[in-house]
Amino acid sequence: MALLELDDLTKRYGGIVAVDHVTMRIDAGEVRAVIGPNGAGKTSLFHLITGVVKATEGSVRFADQDVSALPAHVRCQRGMSRTFQLTSLFPEMSARDNTRLAAQAREGKRWLPLGGSGVFHGAAQRGDAALERLGLTHVADRPAGLLSHGDQRLLEVAMALAQQPRLLLLDEPTQGLSVEETAQAVEVLASLFASAGLTVLLVEHDMEVVFRLAHKITVLHRGSVIADGDPETVKADESVQNAYLGGFA
Ligand SMILES: Nc1ncnc2c1ncn2[C@@H]1O[C@H](COP(=O)(O)OP(=O)(O)O)[C@@H](O)[C@H]1O
Ligand SMILES: [Mg+2]
Repeated sequence: MALLELDDLTKRYGGIVAVDHVTMRIDAGEVRAVIGPNGAGKTSLFHLITGVVKATEGSVRFADQDVSALPAHVRCQRGMSRTFQLTSLFPEMSARDNTRLAAQAREGKRWLPLGGSGVFHGAAQRGDAALERLGLTHVADRPAGLLSHGDQRLLEVAMALAQQPRLLLLDEPTQGLSVEETAQAVEVLASLFASAGLTVLLVEHDMEVVFRLAHKITVLHRGSVIADGDPETVKADESVQNAYLGGFA
């Protein structure tokens, strides 16, 4: 069953076509990567799907409903949760409070301040469970801003996961990490994705990361889809090779 369907999705910024008639379908249970060089339109596509930015043309269907006109927070309530390419956590708050707040936000309670008892029990449990799944329980009490870069990126994933999304959207989860941190984060994500019930859309420019994590890959180049399919097919595709100048042959 298709969980997400994009039809002719297009975004123009003046003369720039950031996303150019993208049609795509993601089935429930799938881990899909969208790859492409810098400027290919990956983040813009993400913004269109999540409702941060309004499409110039085309539509987004989610769980069999047209959500094209819905604002971002309503799409989140419907079950889309995302991380941002640049950090979105609260650095002075503990890792635990960050995930608990995120869990609350899904319920439409938005980002209410946390008193000692201010957090709803269910949200607290969902937040803690998400930390556990990302292997962050041992740093739960530390201020988020003091975690290693690798753990901060995983915390952002935990925050999105705490919202129990039907679709988890990750924008370059290993960006800015060292080679070692990337390898670690990829292993944590691989085991998370292997657990049942998650549908993931991952935006990434790092080929190694993509081939380790994704079931299916969509390649964007200058806003358009130039290839689409399982990792082996995409790897062998000539137009993909050209777009990347032989980058992962
Ligand atoms: N808010 C904006 N205003 C104008 N141009 C934009 C804006 N956001 C993105 N772009 C342009 O759209 C294209 C795609 O950008 P982006 O989606 O960030 O690519 P990627 O995430 O693949 O690196 C780029 O040419 C970029 O400069
Ligand atoms: Mg980007």
